[in-house]
Amino acid sequence: MLARMAFLLSVPTAMVMVAATISSAPAEQHGQAVAQPEDRQRSLQYFGRIATVIEHPRCMNCHTSTDFPRQGDDGHPHIMQVRRGLHDSGTPALQCNTCHQRENSPSGVPGNEVWHLAPLRMAWEGLSTGDICRSLTDPQKGGMSYEQLIHHMAEDKLVAWAWDPGVDLSGKPRSMPPVSHSDFGQLVRDWVATGAACPS
Ligand code: HEC
Ligand code: HEC
Repeated sequence: MLARMAFLLSVPTAMVMVAATISSAPAEQHGQAVAQPEDRQRSLQYFGRIATVIEHPRCMNCHTSTDFPRQGDDGHPHIMQVRRGLHDSGTPALQCNTCHQRENSPSGVPGNEVWHLAPLRMAWEGLSTGDICRSLTDPQKGGMSYEQLIHHMAEDKLVAWAWDPGVDLSGKPRSMPPVSHSDFGQLVRDWVATGAACPS
């Protein structure tokens, strides 16, 4: 009886060992046909690095699920009671582009031609990494095709602003995402090429 229990107990242990062996296999195997589970594993690794950018405050401050934008690395609510408004670009009395000009101002106001909040259906605040991942292509949410997503992440001006974020009101340079813009574009391509897997 005891021996039988020991056997049962050792099954999960063996599975963990097998899993550990698989995941310690070399992550990059370029130019080879690879088994599908391994593709998924790589795809998840790519998304893990993509998420360090997506979940960075330079992106999250505009992808809020609130009625207002956020600011700073601590994501505090936007100063001066700034509100989202009907079209994500402020209220009639206080539009984003009243203060946000076409370029970053040396006095600390970030700028861009199309500065406004991401619509609520593209809100990421409060979502798990897996749910953000799934929302990107969900027709009820962002609903972009993979081609559109690659283009958006690599070319969009608001996305690109995160790597040229200027200084804050105290003159301190804003922090940037931990992956370079060009590496980020490549990661999105690699993620799509390996099946665009999302963490569960
Ligand atoms: C009354 C002027 C004013 C208005 C209107 C305004 N902003 Fe701002 N915004 C600022 C200033 C000033 C800063 C910089 C604050 C700082 O760095 O401490 C800022 C910073 C931000 C940041 C922070 C960037 C970061 O990552 O730290 C975001 C996001 C932002 N604004 C979005 C918006 C949006 C979206 C609107 C319209 C819905 C808007 N703002 C309307 C003045 C304004
Ligand atoms: C100043 C605000 C702002 C900043 C900063 C910003 N975004 Fe956005 N984002 C938007 C807006 C607005 C849209 C909607 C674009 C549209 O409809 O064309 C959007 C849409 C997106 C989408 C499409 C979402 C979907 O589900 O289809 C992605 C992906 C995205 N942004 C990525 C990023 C990343 C990555 C960063 C940081 C590196 C970032 N954004 C920073 C405002 C912002």
